[in-house]
Amino acid sequence: MIKGEKVRLDVHNILYSIYKFNRTLNNPKILKIIDKSKTKDISFINNVTLNSMRLQFHTLKIIQKYVKKKLRINEKILLISAITQIVFLGFKEYAVINCTVEIAKKLKIYHGLVNSVLKRISVDKSKLKKTKIKFDDLPNWFVKKTSYFSKFERNKFINNFHLEPDIHVVFKSTKKLNNFEKKIIKTSDVSGFLENKNNIKNINSFVEGDWWVQDFSSFFPLNNLTIENTHKSFLDACAAPGGKAFQILSKNNKILLNDKNLFRIKTLKKNLKRLKFNSKIVNEDFTKFPKSEKFDFIVLDAPCSAVGTIRKNPEIFFKSEAPDFDYLSNIQEKMLDKASLLLNNNGLILYMVCSFLEYETKVQIDKFLNKNSNFKLDNFKLIKNSEYSGLVKNNLMITLPDKILEKNIDGYFAAYLKKIR
Ligand SMILES: C[S@@+](CC[C@H](N)C(=O)[O-])C[C@H]1O[C@@H](n2cnc3c(N)ncnc32)[C@H](O)[C@@H]1O
Repeated sequence: MIKGEKVRLDVHNILYSIYKFNRTLNNPKILKIIDKSKTKDISFINNVTLNSMRLQFHTLKIIQKYVKKKLRINEKILLISAITQIVFLGFKEYAVINCTVEIAKKLKIYHGLVNSVLKRISVDKSKLKKTKIKFDDLPNWFVKKTSYFSKFERNKFINNFHLEPDIHVVFKSTKKLNNFEKKIIKTSDVSGFLENKNNIKNINSFVEGDWWVQDFSSFFPLNNLTIENTHKSFLDACAAPGGKAFQILSKNNKILLNDKNLFRIKTLKKNLKRLKFNSKIVNEDFTKFPKSEKFDFIVLDAPCSAVGTIRKNPEIFFKSEAPDFDYLSNIQEKMLDKASLLLNNNGLILYMVCSFLEYETKVQIDKFLNKNSNFKLDNFKLIKNSEYSGLVKNNLMITLPDKILEKNIDGYFAAYLKKIR
């Protein structure tokens, strides 16, 4: 194999596996490809794989201009990845073209076509970098589920969804943030964006357990919470890998942690150990959670389509199938019902999803409140004069993938539900 061919073949195989078998990036089969790679190649593989998926709609537009015949999946994936490297990542075109042609030969793809198309694209690359896409170029299922979007929302989404995410971190205390050894753009007295995204796991204070990575949007709802004296018992119904639980634990509260997924519980345990937090963990399907104990505060960070995290999980748009919305809506509803039964009077459910689609957010809350007259939508807890109060409207936090302080944040939804009798 020529230099650079193996890593590019790995990228092709990962993309093919995501598209063809509807796999997520943390699927064991995909992790196996990455684990087998040399450490120095892993960042190349991640960079090209993720950006090929983020920029697929742009590269498909380019392909349409240069190729008139219908392409096979392999051919399309190989071209998407090569165009991303040449046009958008600025890699040396001769290396990309040579390796891609070699891979095409091995995959029994018509390599003459690949060669000539990539050469023509290389010549036009500066012009092609400005390729624009339209909202209707996004997957059909997504366009349908957002049919209520205003022009402003459609534009905001199209301008933001393909950008690389920024890294937002949360500290156990203000003191730990003040002692941080790296540059940080503060978003609160315990959180901020890292200025340098490289090798964060080697930073001493990370190893020491002073902070964890958590997107600003997912951090925001609990950061505003001042825990009342009457709220003594906490449950996190879907806790792994743990960001929300760490926020509660860092405010010196005990919380029972539950998750159905044993693999994710392993990560949760590893995180708790590094952060030097202690918590009881249970491994139940929350919809079947025993009713023997009641709680004053239930964090319900429910499974969802995760479209709010599209920058971190661009495979959501790359897979050949849409998320299973019937399943997700059903489980979200059942989890809310279960949480309502486990809550003490005057208790709170904090319902959250990393989605902004009405179907999994407002519609779910309306359905719940219509069924449960003993609940009301509570005030969204906001720190006085919060500069981010614009993220909350009518006591609901809802945001598309957006920017604050010129840094990228995820799309998100949160609502506090109070049991009044
Ligand atoms: C959005 S993630 C939770 C993220 C977590 N709260 C955090 O802050 O890191 C949703 C979690 O729900 C879990 N889950 C999915 N179905 C479940 C069920 N029926 N019962 C309990 N947990 C479930 C998944 O394993 C996943 O870890």
